[in-house]
Amino acid sequence: MDRRTLALLSLLPIAVATLVLAVPESEAQRTVPLLAPNEARQELERATRQAKDAAVRAEAFAQEAEEASASADQSAREAAARLRALVAQLVVARQAEIEAGNAPDDLATKIMTTADPETGARFSESEMVDQVAIFFLAGHETSAALLGWALWCLAAAPEWGAQVAEEARVFMEAPDFAALSKLPVTRNALRETLRLYPPVPMFVREATAAQVFRKRNVKPGAQVVVSPWHLGRHEARWPDPDVFDPGRWAGGKPAREAWLPFSAGPRVCPGAGFAMAEGAILLAGLMAGFRFEVIEDPVPVAHLTVRARDGISLRVLQR
Ligand code: HEM
Repeated sequence: MDRRTLALLSLLPIAVATLVLAVPESEAQRTVPLLAPNEARQELERATRQAKDAAVRAEAFAQEAEEASASADQSAREAAARLRALVAQLVVARQAEIEAGNAPDDLATKIMTTADPETGARFSESEMVDQVAIFFLAGHETSAALLGWALWCLAAAPEWGAQVAEEARVFMEAPDFAALSKLPVTRNALRETLRLYPPVPMFVREATAAQVFRKRNVKPGAQVVVSPWHLGRHEARWPDPDVFDPGRWAGGKPAREAWLPFSAGPRVCPGAGFAMAEGAILLAGLMAGFRFEVIEDPVPVAHLTVRARDGISLRVLQR
């Protein structure tokens, strides 16, 4: 018998005890008839055996789940390795262009050619791969979550959906960067979606100095969780906090200090401006071409980003 099985067997009594403790009083009385003492002992032995069998079956199930999770882990590792190799190819190609003097004058070239003002060092190839991978990952899932929730919010509030669609129709006649300012309702719909469904529901900061925070002493080094999810729905900050109302953004920025979907301060999301522009263009493009209708209400869950437990299903109709 291997060590793992032994360890599990030693847990069996606990598993059985847990099963027993979990039975509600009412159900226990319903299922056990009154018996003579020796019959009761036999019955007890049988019940214990049955519970042990069940615990062993549950363990087999847990083992299968563990194996499935290990295989998912393996496939995630393979995907990550593939991603890294692809990014590395791009970095190597750009380095060659920089050396040949024909690299495009964009952010990647600037990052790869700018020296650290203090040390004079430049990013090594592997550091640059890390940087590109972080930008890729930080900007992909978050923006996709925002777009998914925005489409659902607009489908669930068709009066706002119609306003965004009209604005989008005009924008799509000559869609260019300068025309983004002509999408005020679309942008407010995105801000409102970020308030209700912030893709990053919480992040952590470390106190650099002693602070008193809501009458509590925060020591230097303490970790503080900031929750855009809770701030965005705080009754003291937002009237009707659970209502999707892009109109609340029309007269400027309400409760700015309670709207932190991109965090704030020196480590604020560097992609915030890009994400708002990208979100507005994609949302306008989709809303101009299609009408979206709710099929069912999604259940938000925090899986690193705020996702819908069973996905977001919408009926899509051509306009
Ligand atoms: C709707 C879209 C987005 C949301 C809601 C979002 C939100 C956030 C938040 C809350 C943080 C701070 C996390 C923390 O401190 O723990 C962050 C950091 C970051 N984001 Fe975004 N982000 C979005 C899109 C993007 C895009 C498009 C990019 C890149 C093109 C990007 C790149 C980054 C990077 C590199 C960091 C780390 C910054 C640092 O630690 O100094 N994000 N983002």
